[in-house]
Amino acid sequence: MASDAAPLVLVSNRGPVTFDEDGSFTLGGGGLVTALTGLASHREAVWIASAMSDGDVARARRSGGRPFDIQTPDGGEYQVRLVESDPEAYDRFYNSVSNPTLWFIQHYLWDLSNAPDVNREDVEAFELGYRAVNDDLARAVLEEIDGLDEPVVMVHDYHLYTLPAVVRAARPEVFLHHFIHIPWTQPDAWRVLPTSMRAAIYEGVLANDIVGFHTRSYRWNFLQCCRDLMGLDVDFERGVVHHDGREVWVRAYPLPIDYEATRRVAASERTLAFEAELKRRRRDHIILRVDRADLSKNVLRGFAAFDQFLDEHPEFLERVTFIAQLMPSRMDVEQYRDYLQRIEALVAVVNHRHGTPDWMPIQLKLRDDLEEAVAAYKNYDVMIVNAMFDGMNLVAKEGPLVNQRDGVSILSENTGAHEELGEFALSVNPFDVAETADSIHEALTMSGDERARRARGLRDAVTRRDPGDWIDDQLADIRMKRARAPEPG
Ligand code: G6P
Repeated sequence: MASDAAPLVLVSNRGPVTFDEDGSFTLGGGGLVTALTGLASHREAVWIASAMSDGDVARARRSGGRPFDIQTPDGGEYQVRLVESDPEAYDRFYNSVSNPTLWFIQHYLWDLSNAPDVNREDVEAFELGYRAVNDDLARAVLEEIDGLDEPVVMVHDYHLYTLPAVVRAARPEVFLHHFIHIPWTQPDAWRVLPTSMRAAIYEGVLANDIVGFHTRSYRWNFLQCCRDLMGLDVDFERGVVHHDGREVWVRAYPLPIDYEATRRVAASERTLAFEAELKRRRRDHIILRVDRADLSKNVLRGFAAFDQFLDEHPEFLERVTFIAQLMPSRMDVEQYRDYLQRIEALVAVVNHRHGTPDWMPIQLKLRDDLEEAVAAYKNYDVMIVNAMFDGMNLVAKEGPLVNQRDGVSILSENTGAHEELGEFALSVNPFDVAETADSIHEALTMSGDERARRARGLRDAVTRRDPGDWIDDQLADIRMKRARAPEPG
């Protein structure tokens, strides 16, 4: 059996670092990178990822496509291998199949009477883009595990659904563990995909030994899809799919935050400088949201609810600011560009309707700045996380950890985090603007004792486990499944 000391091979589309053309790098963002950085820096690991920027490509070439070392700010070190793909294939892979097609299916974002039309270009994008990039990354995986006895490969997210079958075909005894960081939707949502594409995706995912999700409900949806779309024999109680003479285990592993790292950021000088400025300018109350500017995050309904709240409670005019720190995302995809425009337009409308010469109700910050976001986390009175559907949502965990004002969380019942935090948050149906407006009022008028009780509950829940526990649970299942598997051959 492979020991825990054997180097772990991780593979994801987005890597932990993005290189500029001058060779300097910045740490990557998003839930996946946040989750895996701790893992990679605490064990011997090789992290294989796509070369996404021109700087990444230059860096990959400089090391001849081989792994190189990366030092993290907190003293960890791990190896990264960046894989270059043909630019046109990569564009189809990222900007057509992964986003929007799969992302939209997995967050129920398609407006089906209008879109998507599946055209020949989409079928080609799957064959010549999605598969091609998966094949490129699979080749890098096979090189890294060459010569390793019983290797373990951890595959991440929706970009890499066809990779596992490619690796399995070349190395039948490999242990493949695939964690999916986004929701798994119910069977009908998948019916927009041509049958052949759908089959390729499910065959790919079912080439894994274990498939992991953030919540029990995504796990359940996946099992249902295997039965209803693929006609497979599924054991719902044990969470097992029988496929191709093998057992695939389907598990839920909710991702915790690295709370010690977040506390360190909260205490950093840069954060303190942002905080001083924020405190100097603040009104009585701050409402905060921090998100990628993604359609799934439901930014527009959040502002509509704030607009309604100000209409219904004029006593709060000039006393509250809604800070929205939104990081522009996937800007080569038309739907994302349109969405950002609609956000800016709505902010202008709300600010025009309610603002005064020295008060701007919504402060929109279109940038990704961790310390600036953490400074705001420390000082909000209300945090809104109203995603329509969201895999986990780490902001919902990071905010309450460092907040110093017993801030209240308004949390969508369709986020993964809601399974763990719902009890101490004000739960909202994300489509219900009126309920969200009422929740803003409830949060801002809640008694101090009640706020303190909820804030304590949230803090306890988010410090109960860390990403090390998350990975240990997965490694324990890998060991258990290995121990049960018949010897290959
Ligand atoms: C989500 C996905 C990740 C992705 C991140 C950022 O968290 O689960 O796989 O990396 O969004 O998106 P991007 O397209 O910028 O990598």
